[in-house]
Amino acid sequence: MVQCIYCSKSVDVPLSAVDLEGILDQSRANNERIDVTGMLLYESGAFFQVLEGDREVVEELYARLEGDDRHHNVIKLIVEPIAERSFGTWSMGYPKVSREELAQIDGLNDFFSQGKSFMELEEGRAKTLLEAFKGGRWH
Ligand SMILES: Cc1cc2nc3c(=O)[nH]c(=O)nc-3n(C[C@H](O)[C@H](O)[C@H](O)COP(=O)(O)O)c2cc1C
Repeated sequence: MVQCIYCSKSVDVPLSAVDLEGILDQSRANNERIDVTGMLLYESGAFFQVLEGDREVVEELYARLEGDDRHHNVIKLIVEPIAERSFGTWSMGYPKVSREELAQIDGLNDFFSQGKSFMELEEGRAKTLLEAFKGGRWH
């Protein structure tokens, strides 16, 4: 199994609740079928998504996702083998989170309070963000 984390920019900014629901409904239906779990964050026009499942399945999904014209600047941050899932109960969780809440995460306070977006995350900070959602108060 692998975990793949990427960020991207929404083409529509702001993204309407209906469009976001559309992405989540489609993701949940598909992911359940292909045994992929994970979570999606959306804040200030940018997405942060964690996908976990069999390597081939996740790679195929990522390739499909990359071509989706609802987002662009798709940047892969991490792909690594995992022994177990971090979001095993979520076909695609959507923890609704504000910038203020993001700025409360230890290790990311400066990053988010400086107005930076998911697009500026690198591997280290992406992991810190992942850890906060893995067992944290949003899960
Ligand atoms: C930000 C974002 C996240 C997405 N996440 C997923 C996902 O986790 N699983 C999925 O199957 N499709 C996801 N999609 C949709 C895919 O890009 C693609 O449209 C869909 O898989 C096509 O499936 P269909 O067979 O229902 O047409 C996402 C799209 C966007 C814009």
